[in-house]
Amino acid sequence: TDIPRLLSLCLSLHDIERTAEKLLSKPAWIYYSSAADGLGALENNTVDWRKVVLRPRLMRNVRRIDTSRTVLGRRLRYPFFIAPAARAGLANEDGEQCLARGAARRGIGYCVSSVASFPHNDISRAYYNELKQSGVNSNYGALWFQLYIVNEKTVTLERIEAAKKGGYKALVITIDSPVIGKREEDERYRAETSAESLSSSFSSAQEPPLSPPEDATNDEGDGPLPLRGVHSSTFRWDDLKWIREAWQNLGPIALKGVQTAEDAVLAVEHGIDAIYLSNHGGRQCDDTPSSIHTLLEIRRFYPWIVKERKVDIFLDGSIRRGADVVKALCLGATAVALGRPFMYSVSMGDDGVLKAIQLLSDEIETTMRLIGATSIDQLNPAMVNTKRLELE
Ligand code: FNR
Repeated sequence: TDIPRLLSLCLSLHDIERTAEKLLSKPAWIYYSSAADGLGALENNTVDWRKVVLRPRLMRNVRRIDTSRTVLGRRLRYPFFIAPAARAGLANEDGEQCLARGAARRGIGYCVSSVASFPHNDISRAYYNELKQSGVNSNYGALWFQLYIVNEKTVTLERIEAAKKGGYKALVITIDSPVIGKREEDERYRAETSAESLSSSFSSAQEPPLSPPEDATNDEGDGPLPLRGVHSSTFRWDDLKWIREAWQNLGPIALKGVQTAEDAVLAVEHGIDAIYLSNHGGRQCDDTPSSIHTLLEIRRFYPWIVKERKVDIFLDGSIRRGADVVKALCLGATAVALGRPFMYSVSMGDDGVLKAIQLLSDEIETTMRLIGATSIDQLNPAMVNTKRLELE
């Protein structure tokens, strides 16, 4: 396939998604694109961005703009990072390394999943090598580690050690996954392929079923029903103590998957450095709020969390346009993240990742200029109208 040509035809992250659908194997496409149950959470994510309307301020000099932002003590060239998503190796043999190199080169953040297709050391080496070799300003960018808490405490502790050894600068603990959500498209594909492979006349022509997980603990996506149980379903606020002890204060800690104002407050009370509002791309609990909706809830019930900048606030879920990023920042997000678009971009290797970053950065710059903001700090709630979201 002529990747440069395909990429030249990608004018938006949606184009990257459509192209990836053609390039990816069927199980990979299904795994990346699927969501839980009746897809209500996924739909909330998509439609809610449209309900926030921008209020452009005009006749300001917007020739020069600064898009950089400090996030968990690190400067990012743009206010977004690559969300943790398992098994980038399904898209490309270099998998997470493509994402690591792209993030390093463009000075954005990358939060690597617990369930990566490569050892975490290799991914961080790819990141730090790229920083050195590409001659970019290494003051920009960040590499973080996403932690799933699994049943076997020793496995969780090993992961924390891997994060420390690999030079990961923050721990992002995912709290929305006491079990893995029910993703029917994955289950249907598995059922179909196993039904088909029972019938010998078809079996040789079938695609392989979802490959076994690269991570033997099999956190995400793969297993038939019983394996949904590898995640710890006993994980509670008190457990932050031993996690902190193991992490030895080597960097900030974020909680990923916060979906209510109540849990946001608890996170602040527990001394967490960042809350990451997310419904896991609609892949966990169905009919949960979009992250922008949760942010409005926090602003309404605990406005001090946002105003006093008690914690960094991240959010993700169906962010596909620079305008979405800008809306989130206007309402007080420190930075945002994208999952699927980057997984799709990996199907086109390093150049795909760089293109995805470039498309989104360009859109952010254009939107900032068009609404009259020359730095991220100038983005404020008066630049958006959220009435259509608040009414519901
Ligand atoms: C995820 N997500 C995820 N989150 C996490 O904390 N650990 C993980 O291993 C994964 N794995 C994963 C795999 C795939 C294929 C997807 C699509 C997502 C959730 C991810 O971090 C993020 O919350 C969502 O992807 C954000 O939504 P969008 O940007 O994909 O719409």
